[in-house]
Amino acid sequence: MPNVRSVQTDRVGFFGQTSPRELAAAYGTPLYVYNEGVLRRRCRDLLGLSSLPGFRVNYSAKANANPALLRIIREEGCVADAMSPGELYINRLAGFTPDQILYVCNNVSAAEMRIAAENDVILSVDSLAQLDLYGEVNPGGRVMIRLNPGIGAGHHKKVVTAGKETKFGVDPAAFNEARALIARHGLILAGLNQHIGSLFMQPDGYLDAVDFLLGFAQSELGDLFSTLSVLDFGGGFGIPYRKYEEDPRLDLAELGQKLHARLSTWTEATGYRGRFYIEPGRYIAAECGVLLGSVHAVKNNGPTRYVGTDLGFNVLVRPAMYDSFHDIEIYRENGTPDSDLTPQTIVGNICESGDILAKNRPLPLIRQGDVLGVLDAGAYGFSMASSYNQRCRPAEVLVGLDGAPKLIRRRETVEDLAAMFV
Ligand code: LLP
Repeated sequence: MPNVRSVQTDRVGFFGQTSPRELAAAYGTPLYVYNEGVLRRRCRDLLGLSSLPGFRVNYSAKANANPALLRIIREEGCVADAMSPGELYINRLAGFTPDQILYVCNNVSAAEMRIAAENDVILSVDSLAQLDLYGEVNPGGRVMIRLNPGIGAGHHKKVVTAGKETKFGVDPAAFNEARALIARHGLILAGLNQHIGSLFMQPDGYLDAVDFLLGFAQSELGDLFSTLSVLDFGGGFGIPYRKYEEDPRLDLAELGQKLHARLSTWTEATGYRGRFYIEPGRYIAAECGVLLGSVHAVKNNGPTRYVGTDLGFNVLVRPAMYDSFHDIEIYRENGTPDSDLTPQTIVGNICESGDILAKNRPLPLIRQGDVLGVLDAGAYGFSMASSYNQRCRPAEVLVGLDGAPKLIRRRETVEDLAAMFV
């Protein structure tokens, strides 16, 4: 049955044995649908960046922490980061062992540090104050330090996480103070990490940051070098969101070749025997997710054609928060593919005028009763969803390698919403 617009999901057989309309009918909308094959492919893309035995892909669970996905990511051979007790708990639930988890946190309490220490998970601090606190919580323990390499990157100023205008990381120029705190608390420096920001499509900035960290570790650590077991370069690997415009992919062949060459040369020069981490979230989880929604009303307000859906920013906040672009597909029974495109503004059901999924987007005419698919919604989609307006967070379904759909999180109910009130 042809849809109005479904080239991208058709190309990868995204919905397997089922169809988006069948899924919407069976599970309701809004609905997050994930494809296991795509998820596994994305893990393998990154695992292939270097063949060094110490190379690890440290999946950043903040992008999507559904345990069904985490288990697949673990099976593929990735490790995982956590940045809260909740992520740590869910990573453990999904089977990651303590040595497969890094706690990469920011401005946390002594109690939270204790949870990481009790789980025997290495914690990375990102300020001298937090290093001092960790030394009090876990004297003699292993700790990592997050450096701010001074190089930032990202698709929006809100996701740039290094450079002068961010809250993250320890200034490398202050490392002597860190050294003194390490000595005072008898801490073991287990590693260094950094994360310059989210979503780069050209490898150069990332590789410059890799060079920074390798150079720093080699020339600035002195006797602390001997205990180093993790060098973590961070995430940020971008994906092409404008699929219908044939946006090019990040060139992983080039990135892998350059990264591997740097790590090999450096390993030979330094005799380092520890691990190298990259820390991707989006690259692994984004493209395996499509968010399905229903069109409940279409109207014109002045010159604008508004398509009213159940895809409010409570379900997917990225467009409202960062002006992010997500491609949109249109599924209709016996839909005729339509070459005429009309600008349409797709909105949700939240009581704010900023509740806009796509503004004046040229698309085939959308009608009431259509099911829409928001592409590349697997990362920072469900994980940033909220119950604003007391709307229930959506269900999640996984289309397995056999093409069959399986519910991996039930839809919230109004009783769930009320359950926390005392
Ligand atoms: N490591 C650390 C320490 C991070 O803070 C992050 C993301 C990552 C790794 C993974 O970054 P990725 O590979 O996914 O770019 N909500 C925003 C993205 C925020 C990213 C926050 N930190 C969005 O929807 O675009």
